[in-house]
Amino acid sequence: MSRLPLGPELERGPRVEIVLDGTPVEAFTGETVATVLLAHGEIATRTTVGGEPRGIFCGIGVCFDCLVVVDGVPNTRACMTWVRDGMQVSRQDGLVARQSGG
Ligand code: FES
Repeated sequence: MSRLPLGPELERGPRVEIVLDGTPVEAFTGETVATVLLAHGEIATRTTVGGEPRGIFCGIGVCFDCLVVVDGVPNTRACMTWVRDGMQVSRQDGLVARQSGG
């Protein structure tokens, strides 16, 4: 896991926990789902219908490459979605949530 070290110029919001593909992971209020995925070393957020991996590309909500399933809602942009405690996030395979353990 990697995040910038805290210092006088950098603050972090309160710690929360989200569930990523069935596994609880640490996050902080003020982070996007994309931030948490990257902090935990997860580059690909989904695969296309044809099975090609996609991930965070533009980081500003334009490319739609970072789609994930959030609380059962597919096609949610990870880079535009703020984390909140208890959020359920699944990487997306094609148009559906990845099956846990896969
Ligand atoms: S990375 Fe481009 S829309 Fe999220």
